[in-house]
Amino acid sequence: MMRIRMMMKNHPRGVFQILGRPFPSPAFSSAWKEGGDPLGQMDQQPTWDRFYAAQTGGGTTPGHFDWFFGYQDVAAFLHNTLEGLPDGPASVLDVGCGTSDLGLGLYRESPRQLQVCCLDFSPPALGVLQQLLQQSPPPRHPRSELHCRLADATELARLFAPASFHLVLDKGTCDALLRCPRGPGRAQQLMAGCLGVLKPEGHLIQFSDEDPDARVPFLEQAGEVNVAVKEIGPTGGICYYAYTIGRKT
Ligand SMILES: C[S@@+](CC[C@H](N)C(=O)[O-])C[C@H]1O[C@@H](n2cnc3c(N)ncnc32)[C@H](O)[C@@H]1O
Repeated sequence: MMRIRMMMKNHPRGVFQILGRPFPSPAFSSAWKEGGDPLGQMDQQPTWDRFYAAQTGGGTTPGHFDWFFGYQDVAAFLHNTLEGLPDGPASVLDVGCGTSDLGLGLYRESPRQLQVCCLDFSPPALGVLQQLLQQSPPPRHPRSELHCRLADATELARLFAPASFHLVLDKGTCDALLRCPRGPGRAQQLMAGCLGVLKPEGHLIQFSDEDPDARVPFLEQAGEVNVAVKEIGPTGGICYYAYTIGRKT
């Protein structure tokens, strides 16, 4: 309840802010309303299928929709994090990527070789991301690759070998699970899966609008982890946070 109250601060129930704009926006609200209370159903695939289908409806050219903020707002932070990793190709997983520019931006601009996996359970989202990938200029590193994977982010242990990734990115996905009635359990499952596929020297970065006093205790429940918090923004008048989680060595 505390999390919902914090998110809803100053806004009527069912409306919150993305990039300073009320959300759900008028353009998407009808698609969300079809399924009832969207904020209670943000862990469910049909909710997101409707959301992303509404975005591309009407034959408009597909584009990125970014939750909270886009790649450029955190590019320097992400590239610094990548620089801190051991030399050589780096593997990156974006869990619940949607149509965000985060994975594609890193793939496009990283001077080091990246293997990026963008994972989401929503086919319309991944369809858009595939099109955007095809339209993207070649990556800065000629051997960088990006793959889209249609899968459930709460089943990472079944999908990937342990210690597969140097960097796991989660922008708004853990938040979406936490905000649902079935939330905390599924969010813990997601978090455990993210840590399980991380290399020992790797980092999980969660981007969220949740205050550290609520998020850090949740993250620390995962066990032997270090958590660092960085403020992002304010972006569109709102302060976001990057939570960098690594295993205690
Ligand atoms: C709040 S949106 C964030 C999207 C994207 N990361 C961004 O920054 O714009 C949450 C995303 O998580 C995806 N998602 C939610 N639960 C999921 C699950 N169990 N498995 C895979 N994707 C999931 C949704 O389809 C949606 O794209």
